[in-house]
Amino acid sequence: MADSWAQLKQDCGACRRCALCQTRHTLVFGVGNESSPILFVGEGPGEQEDLRGEPFVGPAGQLLDTMLELIDLDRKKVYIANIVKCRPPRNRDPLPEEIAACGEWLGRQIALLQPRIVVCLGRIAAKELIDPDFRITREHGLWLERDGRAYTATYHPSALLRDPGKRPEAFEDLRAIRQRLREENLY
Ligand code: URA
Ligand code: SF4
Repeated sequence: MADSWAQLKQDCGACRRCALCQTRHTLVFGVGNESSPILFVGEGPGEQEDLRGEPFVGPAGQLLDTMLELIDLDRKKVYIANIVKCRPPRNRDPLPEEIAACGEWLGRQIALLQPRIVVCLGRIAAKELIDPDFRITREHGLWLERDGRAYTATYHPSALLRDPGKRPEAFEDLRAIRQRLREENLY
């Protein structure tokens, strides 16, 4: 039977495929416009996200909202998801086995959404969705066309909070994303 958002939310919502299910408060599925042509993918829920069940609602999320505003978007127009749906303890990087266990959910989100553009927020998403050897410092802002989708990466908002000196480069990446959305008449 064909997949649906309702089916996927039901299947994912009860997931206990990796050990992160033991420490999570709330599974963070994803949020936004389920026919958005652009998908933003972060790493995994942080403390606030784990408590509220929505991606990017803590400090990094406030910066993401500002970044979206800069390109005339907001979280209701786009779709936002993470590589892993449950918070890694103390915000450590998700482990390879956790990323692997969680992959089906993002895969099904992408299959339902069919986004034209996928924006990886940070290294973890870029390694998973673009290239296992992805180097965010060198390769952010580059575009890869694959199977009818355009993939790019920019700095994770948490990295921009830690190192505001990276913000001008991230702003350039965002401008390029806006330009592509306009060129392709996606909004
Ligand atoms: N960082 C992420 O990668 N994702 C979130 O949802 C929040 C913070
Ligand atoms: Fe399931 Fe992913 Fe949560 Fe692990 S992180 S329990 S695979 S939803």
